[in-house]
Amino acid sequence: MRAPIRGIRGRWPAWLEQRQPRLFRVDPRVLLDEAPSAEAFRDVMSSIHVGATIKITGIDRHGPADDLLLQHVDLDGARIVDIGASDGSTSVDLVRRLPGFSSYVMADLYLRLDAVSVGRRVVFTDPDGQCVLVAGPRVVAWPSLSRTVRFAYAGVIARARRGVPREVLLLGPDARELMRTDDRVSARVHDVFQPWSGETPDVIKVANVLRRLYFSDAEISRALRALLASLADGGHLLVLDNPRIPGVAIRAGLYRRTGDRFSLVARTEDAPEIADLIETSELVPS
Ligand SMILES: C[S@@+](CC[C@H](N)C(=O)[O-])C[C@H]1O[C@@H](n2cnc3c(N)ncnc32)[C@H](O)[C@@H]1O
Repeated sequence: MRAPIRGIRGRWPAWLEQRQPRLFRVDPRVLLDEAPSAEAFRDVMSSIHVGATIKITGIDRHGPADDLLLQHVDLDGARIVDIGASDGSTSVDLVRRLPGFSSYVMADLYLRLDAVSVGRRVVFTDPDGQCVLVAGPRVVAWPSLSRTVRFAYAGVIARARRGVPREVLLLGPDARELMRTDDRVSARVHDVFQPWSGETPDVIKVANVLRRLYFSDAEISRALRALLASLADGGHLLVLDNPRIPGVAIRAGLYRRTGDRFSLVARTEDAPEIADLIETSELVPS
């Protein structure tokens, strides 16, 4: 984003918003609502830049990738882990299609933010203490993306550091409802660069996280080694991305851990962006 400040929808003349919709965002303060709409909550995810990534997500965007899993893996009693689940929208889509499973964990390194009110503004901070967003009455600003914006908001950020934070769970209403009603579904903080701890998953899904627009090849390969180490021999990895390429909606591959490597089980017409890295990944003996 070249100029990391946007208007808040509904606070500006309608003709301006209609003419330049890209310059306006949903008010991030919906994250603080008692009962936010699922759509508004999801929309705000595209405003949250955390670490090297953006929490952007959607619904009905993984269909052909999830088909690979449903068609090629016996999921009855399976332990499934979804890493980089954002607000859980795509996890909810998959869980609704699963015939039977033992557990489903929506995992993400950034599951929570702290929010502090400073006058009419709200300052959002990630678990590393980085100010990721400031929402004012008319504009949203991203101090982490620009030195100028950081400078402009330095006073507000300093006041927020002295305030009392309120923890904001970044799981949307549908994901929360699913966790309430199905005790097989849970959420957990997890870093894709670390091996999974606890019960070994049968399936790991990683969607739109290990992308070359976010990470270097060396970093992606490091994450792939952690994923290999997280699965038992015969366990499955589903990797996919929704690229912004005209005519390509999704690129997905389903892989099985076979010894110290991944072997391809099935893929969509277009291979995932990082197929070359997955196919050459190898577990390094410790
Ligand atoms: C683009 S979103 C993908 C959301 C969802 N999987 C989808 O496809 O719609 C990327 C997600 O990865 C998470 N993420 C970023 N770095 C991570 C890491 N090191 N470990 C786990 N999750 C991470 C972000 O918080 C964000 O929720």
